[in-house]
Amino acid sequence: MFAGLDLGTSGVRALLVGDNGQPVGVADVALDVQHLHPGWSEQAPDAWTQAAAEALAQLKQAHPKEMAQLRGIGLSGQMHGATLLDEAGKVLRPCILWNDTRSHEQAARLDATPGLREISGNIVFPGFTAPKLNWLAEHEPETFARVATVLLPKDYIAYWLTGVIGSEMSDAAGTSWLDTGARAWSDDLLAKTGMRRDQMPESREGTGVVGTIRGDLAAELGLPDAVQVVAGGGDNAAAACGVGALAEGDGFVSLGTSGVLLAARDGFAPSPETAVHTFCHAIPDTWYQMGVILAATDCLNWLARLTGSKPADLTAPLGDRITAPGRLRFLPYLSGERTPHNDSAVRGAFLGLDIGAGRDDLARAVLEGVSFALRDNLDALVRTGANLDRVLAIGGGARSRYWVELLATILELPVDLPAQGEFGAALGAARLAICGVTGAAPADVMTRPAIAETIDPRRDLVPSYRDAHSAFAASFPKLKAMP
Ligand code: XUL
Repeated sequence: MFAGLDLGTSGVRALLVGDNGQPVGVADVALDVQHLHPGWSEQAPDAWTQAAAEALAQLKQAHPKEMAQLRGIGLSGQMHGATLLDEAGKVLRPCILWNDTRSHEQAARLDATPGLREISGNIVFPGFTAPKLNWLAEHEPETFARVATVLLPKDYIAYWLTGVIGSEMSDAAGTSWLDTGARAWSDDLLAKTGMRRDQMPESREGTGVVGTIRGDLAAELGLPDAVQVVAGGGDNAAAACGVGALAEGDGFVSLGTSGVLLAARDGFAPSPETAVHTFCHAIPDTWYQMGVILAATDCLNWLARLTGSKPADLTAPLGDRITAPGRLRFLPYLSGERTPHNDSAVRGAFLGLDIGAGRDDLARAVLEGVSFALRDNLDALVRTGANLDRVLAIGGGARSRYWVELLATILELPVDLPAQGEFGAALGAARLAICGVTGAAPADVMTRPAIAETIDPRRDLVPSYRDAHSAFAASFPKLKAMP
């Protein structure tokens, strides 16, 4: 038996799988995010470990026999957060999360530092870890002076489980301190960002074993004391392991809070000028590239809140089949944008509002706007040399057939919908644990899910959606030019 522990932003998911990787049970525990000031986003690492303990306890209660045979726990989690430890291994302050934009000035400064993009393979986005430490040095110098170790969020869970401080390549690639091609911390990048090598945890591959569970914790949680903890991966790398996106040509689109279009790559082919992310995969000698939009279902959630409805109430009236594009346009930059614009200041808009526009028109414009933004991501990915001839759709938004047909038509790619079941980051983490503990080959364990349905682009509507996408893209500079 193996478990995957996924530390998301809104909750911890613990998934129990058999030795064959088949899901046995799942437990979810919610987490809050603290927003002390506009643009700030923090969580206390204690809240993570409490939620992880609670999720494991729920699994144990529901599956006592199986949990008594637990051999390994793999980890996955939200990337980029700065979890800061002092010399004694104590947490210095709440973790500054991936969606916290307070360090946008520091990020812009670092990003303009010659050589930095070349080594890390990426733009220094405001959400990444290095600029957060520069912000700390400027605004909380006493805390900064006491930073002995910087851990990524899920690596803190590994530390709690094992007492061992460590990280792995897929998450480390999102810090701006890693030489992503060489899969090693870069002394040059550390020097350029004012950090020291001794503040970085030892970084292994995602299938590497971090250590054995602490005896006292195993006793407290009622787990076998031989349970091994496997490093795992950042959430998108782990999700790619969950859907078997390991090799060139494999990819997925995730319609979650944020939106991701990911392509696995056999080699390291950075192209930071496209604002595409180029990160190490959670399996050795493999990389992946992805476009990230900061608000996908978040845009729908926002409209639902505003109209006193639920997201499903907004998508249901649209039916299952799309028609020609609407005239109302939505620019989905509610939280700024990463790919392709790298702009934390830009904000969203409705354009072309008509006196007769109703809730359904707004909902439809929102789905179209998010899908057009994902098309911009596909175009950026293609410019890096990534080659996707179909994608798998995951995330809450993929429950709307209308949205998936819209996306297929706008991306001009067939979209596969997996059959009901587990295939997210927690499954990827459990699969990494299987490989790490048993030595099984990732390609044997990380298979693709069964496909329930493939939704093809509506060829009859592709030309009109191409035109609508051009109009969408032309709106961005005008939006930027607004005071
Ligand atoms: C990836 C990213 C998000 C977070 C939170 O670059 O910022 O996917 O990992 O899920």
